Amino acid sequence: MELKKQVLSLLEIARGNSISGAKLAKELFVTRSAIWKAIKALQADGYGITAVTNKGYCLTENNDILSSASITPFLCGQALDMKIEVHKKVDSTNSIAKNLAKNGASQGTVVIAEEQINGRGRLGRAFYSPPSTGVYMSLVLRPKLSLEHSLLITTSVAVAVARAIETVGNVKADIKWVNDIYVNGYKLCGILTEASIDFESGGLEYVIVGIGINVATQKKDFPEELQNIATSIFLDESNKMPIRSKLIAEVLNNISQSYERMTDKEYLDEYRERSFLLGQEILVIQGEKIETALAIEIDEQARLVVEFKDGTRKPLNSGEVSVKKQ
Ligand code: BTN
Repeated sequence: MELKKQVLSLLEIARGNSISGAKLAKELFVTRSAIWKAIKALQADGYGITAVTNKGYCLTENNDILSSASITPFLCGQALDMKIEVHKKVDSTNSIAKNLAKNGASQGTVVIAEEQINGRGRLGRAFYSPPSTGVYMSLVLRPKLSLEHSLLITTSVAVAVARAIETVGNVKADIKWVNDIYVNGYKLCGILTEASIDFESGGLEYVIVGIGINVATQKKDFPEELQNIATSIFLDESNKMPIRSKLIAEVLNNISQSYERMTDKEYLDEYRERSFLLGQEILVIQGEKIETALAIEIDEQARLVVEFKDGTRKPLNSGEVSVKKQ
């Protein structure tokens, strides 16, 4: 590993506390001057590192640059085995993860970016992904499941992400079927699940779970069409703290915990509790057709059961639903 990355790892572990140049040099088997050069390079990359005589180097508490080293100290359990790569600016982390998966990347490969220039949402929409104020991450999964289980993957990930947002962001996270996360009626997070099918076995070859969370984007900084729809965890600039690494780790910890058990469907009760559409009049948009319906329940396959005006009920697998404005 490059010396700069090794130094960063040690500083991340000690975040907020100083480590002397001598100690860093000893642990990494290099000279103090090599450490000094690595620190300068990290500072030039924007890392908040202070150097205090007789104390050493300290990565400031509020440093919020994402790196695999900044996320790893918060990982636990099986998430520690994940392979994390962090990019500055990409087209779309889902597209990168998909390419990696096509080329054999293993389950647990995670692609993260500080910014996406072509962030993709569901139904061909764009996902606004400005630099440094959000979490844009894609995870490669290789579930031994058939296509009909894909809704379980999507919905169990939604619960895992909602929990992470609540733990780290201290907000109440609701779910809008199928996998949008809302806070106080505004969208905070979107999840795009893309799957490749193995035609021979009929099973899933790989699944890419792409998660986009607005963390510190100010209302005024969202594009106009999103200003009355979207929100972020910290709308107040003064609250901007280094939570993105913690949030990413918490998402990965939660997903790795729930992933193996998703077919037990135990998470579905929590999914239902968090679902704010249930009992509401909604618009069901399928292709060109828009119909009013009542959201009745989430069934055992995680489908949304709706009742149309004529009393007929239908379980929805996919498509777009929205709350009907009164
Ligand atoms: C939606 O709201 O419709 C889903 C949005 C999913 C956005 C995430 S951000 C990381 C990953 N990369 C993408 O291009 N999209 C997903």
